[in-house]
Amino acid sequence: MPKLIIDCDPGIDDALALLLALSSPELEIAGITTVSGNVSADLGAANARKVLHQTGRPEIPVFVGEMTPLLKDYTDARDTHGRDGLGESFLPEVPDASPRESAAEFLEQALEQEEISIIALGPMTNLARLFEKRPDLISRIPRLVSMGGSFKSHGNCSPVAEYNYWCDPEAARICYEHFAAAGKKIEMVGLDVTRRIVLTPNLLSYMTRLDPETGAFVRKITEFYMDFHWKQEGIIGCVINDPLAVAYYIEPSICSGFDSYLEVETDGICRGQTIVDSMGFWNRRPNSHVLTETSAREFMYFFFSRILKKANGTKWKREELSCLEQL
Ligand code: BDR
Ligand code: CA
Repeated sequence: MPKLIIDCDPGIDDALALLLALSSPELEIAGITTVSGNVSADLGAANARKVLHQTGRPEIPVFVGEMTPLLKDYTDARDTHGRDGLGESFLPEVPDASPRESAAEFLEQALEQEEISIIALGPMTNLARLFEKRPDLISRIPRLVSMGGSFKSHGNCSPVAEYNYWCDPEAARICYEHFAAAGKKIEMVGLDVTRRIVLTPNLLSYMTRLDPETGAFVRKITEFYMDFHWKQEGIIGCVINDPLAVAYYIEPSICSGFDSYLEVETDGICRGQTIVDSMGFWNRRPNSHVLTETSAREFMYFFFSRILKKANGTKWKREELSCLEQL
């Protein structure tokens, strides 16, 4: 596998996605870049450092990216993720030992040196700026997996829009346009699939029984998120979007979908909506692979068996996680 950069806005589910990526031995993470989304890019970087500290991987560098969307006023999601972006867990700060480069400098230099895949878990502002400046670097990205958008599912911050693409719709539009021009496809892990991934209090209890330390960490950061979901959507538990993008990146069989041309609407009541030309009306070459199906059970097996450890430090095997058969 090529090296990987994770561009994110931690964010509770971003933190869980980082936890999964950092527990996955096949991934070589060159760096983490942050962007303003759930919280501002600098607060997101502080949160990424907290997750690196929790997982014992402080050597991975974190670079702060764009503080505002390309054109729109910035609207954070602290109503969903808490004032600190990690469910008001207010975990202790971790000193910043990363090089003094910006996310833009890091992304450009890293891709100049070698091929690197990217998982984008927040608004696509950093990537749009990069592709506007250096469209040639798109050929250096074997895979770009983006958590965002939706095909048939309703939105999560407007009737039709998913938050990452709504927050900076021009950025999302630019990324898809550049991929269309380069004849490449962005792999879109949108709400059609992420909505199926619900961390329930039951699953959290299993987690805590299996690995008390990791379970306590996950509980600390998700309690606020669960309250939000109850008030906002009337569900018990919380939708954890971002870890699915990481799981799919490592194990593509966890989701399935189809290739299509898509555009992102930037204004009006459809701001942030992904218009997926699934029937080929526009006769354009696909610039996306749109994921539409997933198995929550397979995802949870994947997630649990990677992030949870036994007291002796080894991981749980699938046959030892029969608690997940209920899904
Ligand atoms: C996406 O927006 C954020 O709230 C989450 O972190 C996720 O990346 C879901 O719409
Ligand atoms: Ca996110």
